[in-house]
Amino acid sequence: MKLVVFISGRGSNLAALLKNQAQNGYEVAHVISNKASALGLEIAQEHGVNNSHIVWTDRNQGEQHATEILNQVKPDLIVLAGFMKVLSAEFVAQFENKIINIHPSLLPLYPGLNTHQRAINDGQTTHGASVHLVDDQLDHGLVLSQCHIAIEPSDTAESLAKKLISKEHKLLTETVKMIAQGVLTWHNGLEYSNEPLKQAMVIDSPDM
Ligand code: GRF
Repeated sequence: MKLVVFISGRGSNLAALLKNQAQNGYEVAHVISNKASALGLEIAQEHGVNNSHIVWTDRNQGEQHATEILNQVKPDLIVLAGFMKVLSAEFVAQFENKIINIHPSLLPLYPGLNTHQRAINDGQTTHGASVHLVDDQLDHGLVLSQCHIAIEPSDTAESLAKKLISKEHKLLTETVKMIAQGVLTWHNGLEYSNEPLKQAMVIDSPDM
Protein backbone atom coordinates (compact mmCIF):
# COMPACT_ATOMS: atom_id res chain seq x y z
CA MET A 1 0.00 0.00 0.00
CA LYS A 2 1.35 3.36 -1.06
CA LEU A 3 1.18 6.33 1.34
CA VAL A 4 1.67 10.06 1.04
CA VAL A 5 2.26 11.68 4.43
CA PHE A 6 1.51 15.35 5.12
CA ILE A 7 3.45 17.02 7.93
CA SER A 8 4.13 20.50 9.33
CA GLY A 9 6.88 19.97 11.90
CA ARG A 10 8.83 17.52 14.00
CA GLY A 11 7.70 14.43 12.09
CA SER A 12 7.96 11.89 14.92
CA ASN A 13 4.83 10.11 13.66
CA LEU A 14 6.36 10.05 10.19
CA ALA A 15 9.55 8.54 11.65
CA ALA A 16 7.47 5.85 13.37
CA LEU A 17 5.68 5.05 10.12
CA LEU A 18 9.00 4.80 8.26
CA LYS A 19 10.58 2.56 10.87
CA ASN A 20 8.49 -0.53 10.19
CA GLN A 21 7.16 0.11 6.73
CA ALA A 22 8.48 -2.99 4.96
CA GLN A 23 7.21 -5.54 7.49
CA ASN A 24 3.97 -3.61 7.95
CA GLY A 25 3.06 -3.85 4.28
CA TYR A 26 3.07 -0.18 3.30
CA GLU A 27 5.50 2.25 1.72
CA VAL A 28 5.81 5.99 2.33
CA ALA A 29 6.14 7.17 -1.27
CA HIS A 30 6.17 10.92 -0.70
CA VAL A 31 6.21 13.43 2.17
CA ILE A 32 4.58 16.85 1.79
CA SER A 33 5.22 19.70 4.22
CA ASN A 34 3.74 23.18 4.27
CA LYS A 35 6.84 24.31 6.21
CA ALA A 36 10.29 24.41 4.64
CA SER A 37 11.91 24.11 8.07
CA ALA A 38 9.95 21.01 9.15
CA LEU A 39 12.28 18.48 10.75
CA GLY A 40 10.15 15.78 9.17
CA LEU A 41 11.49 16.76 5.74
CA GLU A 42 14.99 15.89 6.95
CA ILE A 43 13.69 12.57 8.24
CA ALA A 44 12.19 11.86 4.79
CA GLN A 45 15.48 12.78 3.16
CA GLU A 46 17.48 10.51 5.49
CA HIS A 47 15.21 7.63 4.49
CA GLY A 48 15.53 8.46 0.80
CA VAL A 49 11.83 9.30 0.55
CA ASN A 50 10.71 11.84 -2.07
CA ASN A 51 9.60 15.00 -0.35
CA SER A 52 8.21 18.41 -1.20
CA HIS A 53 7.81 21.69 0.56
CA ILE A 54 4.60 23.31 -0.63
CA VAL A 55 4.02 27.02 -0.02
CA TRP A 56 0.62 27.17 1.65
CA THR A 57 0.06 30.90 2.25
CA ASP A 58 -2.82 30.65 -0.19
CA ARG A 59 -4.89 27.49 0.43
CA ASN A 60 -6.02 27.15 -3.20
CA GLN A 61 -2.47 27.27 -4.42
CA GLY A 62 -1.24 24.88 -1.74
CA GLU A 63 -3.99 22.39 -2.47
CA GLN A 64 -3.45 22.66 -6.21
CA HIS A 65 0.22 21.81 -5.81
CA ALA A 66 -0.59 18.95 -3.43
CA THR A 67 -3.19 17.62 -5.89
CA GLU A 68 -0.58 17.58 -8.68
CA ILE A 69 1.74 15.49 -6.51
CA LEU A 70 -1.05 13.17 -5.40
CA ASN A 71 -2.24 12.65 -8.98
CA GLN A 72 1.29 11.70 -9.93
CA VAL A 73 2.07 9.44 -6.97
CA LYS A 74 -1.45 7.94 -6.79
CA PRO A 75 -1.32 6.86 -3.13
CA ASP A 76 -3.77 4.35 -1.70
CA LEU A 77 -3.88 6.34 1.53
CA ILE A 78 -3.04 9.92 2.56
CA VAL A 79 -1.89 10.31 6.16
CA LEU A 80 -2.02 13.68 7.93
CA ALA A 81 0.59 13.34 10.69
CA GLY A 82 0.89 16.67 12.45
CA PHE A 83 -0.25 18.62 9.39
CA MET A 84 -1.42 21.96 10.76
CA LYS A 85 -3.48 23.25 7.84
CA VAL A 86 -7.22 22.73 7.38
CA LEU A 87 -8.07 21.16 4.02
CA SER A 88 -11.01 22.45 1.98
CA ALA A 89 -14.16 20.38 1.41
CA GLU A 90 -13.32 20.36 -2.31
CA PHE A 91 -9.86 18.92 -1.71
CA VAL A 92 -11.17 16.27 0.69
CA ALA A 93 -13.91 15.30 -1.80
CA GLN A 94 -11.28 14.52 -4.44
CA PHE A 95 -9.75 11.90 -2.13
CA GLU A 96 -12.90 10.84 -0.30
CA ASN A 97 -12.40 8.09 2.28
CA LYS A 98 -8.69 8.03 1.53
CA ILE A 99 -7.39 10.61 4.02
CA ILE A 100 -6.72 9.82 7.68
CA ASN A 101 -5.49 12.12 10.44
CA ILE A 102 -3.97 11.57 13.88
CA HIS A 103 -5.43 13.90 16.49
CA PRO A 104 -4.29 14.15 20.13
CA SER A 105 -7.64 13.71 21.88
CA LEU A 106 -10.36 11.12 22.35
CA LEU A 107 -12.60 12.38 19.57
CA PRO A 108 -15.36 13.53 19.49
CA LEU A 109 -13.91 15.32 22.52
CA TYR A 110 -11.64 18.30 21.83
CA PRO A 111 -11.36 18.80 18.10
CA GLY A 112 -8.99 21.67 17.27
CA LEU A 113 -6.00 22.96 19.20
CA ASN A 114 -4.76 22.82 22.85
CA THR A 115 -6.36 19.44 23.45
CA HIS A 116 -4.21 18.53 26.48
CA GLN A 117 -4.94 21.74 28.38
CA ARG A 118 -8.64 21.54 27.58
CA ALA A 119 -8.82 17.97 28.91
CA ILE A 120 -7.07 19.08 32.15
CA ASN A 121 -9.33 22.15 32.51
CA ASP A 122 -12.40 19.90 32.25
CA GLY A 123 -11.13 17.65 35.04
CA GLN A 124 -10.84 14.61 32.77
CA THR A 125 -9.01 11.60 34.21
CA THR A 126 -8.53 9.85 30.86
CA HIS A 127 -7.16 11.32 27.67
CA GLY A 128 -5.73 9.93 24.47
CA ALA A 129 -5.42 10.16 20.72
CA SER A 130 -7.53 9.17 17.73
CA VAL A 131 -6.95 8.21 14.12
CA HIS A 132 -9.93 9.25 12.03
CA LEU A 133 -11.09 9.65 8.45
CA VAL A 134 -10.88 13.23 7.27
CA ASP A 135 -14.15 14.75 6.12
CA ASP A 136 -15.12 18.36 5.44
CA GLN A 137 -15.24 19.31 9.14
CA LEU A 138 -12.29 19.82 11.48
CA ASP A 139 -11.16 16.63 13.31
CA HIS A 140 -14.53 15.10 12.62
CA GLY A 141 -14.76 11.99 10.35
CA LEU A 142 -15.26 8.34 11.33
CA VAL A 143 -12.92 7.41 14.19
CA LEU A 144 -10.90 4.31 13.27
CA SER A 145 -8.78 3.78 16.37
CA GLN A 146 -7.88 5.30 19.73
CA CYS A 147 -5.29 4.98 22.48
CA HIS A 148 -5.62 6.12 26.09
CA ILE A 149 -3.54 7.64 28.86
CA ALA A 150 -4.46 8.52 32.45
CA ILE A 151 -4.41 12.15 33.58
CA GLU A 152 -2.83 12.49 37.03
CA PRO A 153 -3.46 15.56 39.23
CA SER A 154 0.15 16.64 38.69
CA ASP A 155 -0.08 16.55 34.89
CA THR A 156 0.43 19.60 32.70
CA ALA A 157 -0.25 20.01 29.00
CA GLU A 158 3.46 19.35 28.42
CA SER A 159 3.59 16.18 30.51
CA LEU A 160 0.49 14.82 28.77
CA ALA A 161 1.95 15.55 25.32
CA LYS A 162 5.10 13.70 26.37
CA LYS A 163 3.20 10.71 27.77
CA LEU A 164 0.97 10.49 24.72
CA ILE A 165 3.41 10.79 21.84
CA SER A 166 4.93 7.29 21.97
CA LYS A 167 1.43 5.83 22.20
CA GLU A 168 0.43 7.93 19.20
CA HIS A 169 3.28 6.38 17.23
CA LYS A 170 2.02 2.90 18.00
CA LEU A 171 -1.58 3.91 17.33
CA LEU A 172 -0.78 5.33 13.91
CA THR A 173 1.57 2.57 12.74
CA GLU A 174 -0.73 -0.24 13.93
CA THR A 175 -3.74 1.43 12.33
CA VAL A 176 -1.98 1.93 8.98
CA LYS A 177 -0.72 -1.66 9.19
CA MET A 178 -4.26 -2.99 9.67
CA ILE A 179 -5.45 -0.88 6.74
CA ALA A 180 -2.57 -2.16 4.58
CA GLN A 181 -3.43 -5.75 5.53
CA GLY A 182 -7.05 -5.10 4.56
CA VAL A 183 -8.39 -6.08 7.99
CA LEU A 184 -9.53 -2.61 9.02
CA THR A 185 -11.97 -1.26 6.44
CA TRP A 186 -14.80 1.23 6.19
CA HIS A 187 -17.51 0.63 3.64
CA ASN A 188 -20.84 0.87 5.41
CA GLY A 189 -19.21 1.94 8.66
CA LEU A 190 -16.12 0.55 10.33
CA GLU A 191 -15.31 -3.15 9.90
CA TYR A 192 -12.66 -5.47 11.30
CA SER A 193 -12.16 -8.71 9.32
CA ASN A 194 -15.44 -7.98 7.52
CA GLU A 195 -17.37 -7.78 10.81
CA PRO A 196 -19.01 -4.47 11.77
CA LEU A 197 -17.21 -2.61 14.56
CA LYS A 198 -19.46 -0.57 16.83
CA GLN A 199 -16.58 1.45 18.20
CA ALA A 200 -13.12 2.54 17.15
CA MET A 201 -10.34 -0.06 17.59
CA VAL A 202 -8.54 0.38 20.90
CA ILE A 203 -4.77 0.22 20.50
CA ASP A 204 -3.32 0.67 23.96
CA SER A 205 0.16 -0.18 25.12
CA PRO A 206 0.44 -2.88 27.83
CA ASP A 207 1.12 -0.35 30.62
CA MET A 208 -2.39 1.10 30.31
C1 GRF B 1 0.98 14.87 17.18
O1 GRF B 1 0.72 15.05 18.54
C2 GRF B 1 -0.31 14.68 16.42
O2 GRF B 1 -1.29 14.02 17.15
C3 GRF B 1 -0.74 16.09 16.18
O3 GRF B 1 0.45 16.81 15.94
C4 GRF B 1 1.54 16.15 16.57
C5 GRF B 1 2.53 15.88 15.50
O4 GRF B 1 3.77 15.44 16.01
N1 GRF B 1 -1.70 16.15 15.10
P1 GRF B 1 4.92 14.94 15.04
O5 GRF B 1 5.18 16.06 14.02
O6 GRF B 1 4.45 13.69 14.34
O7 GRF B 1 6.10 14.69 15.90
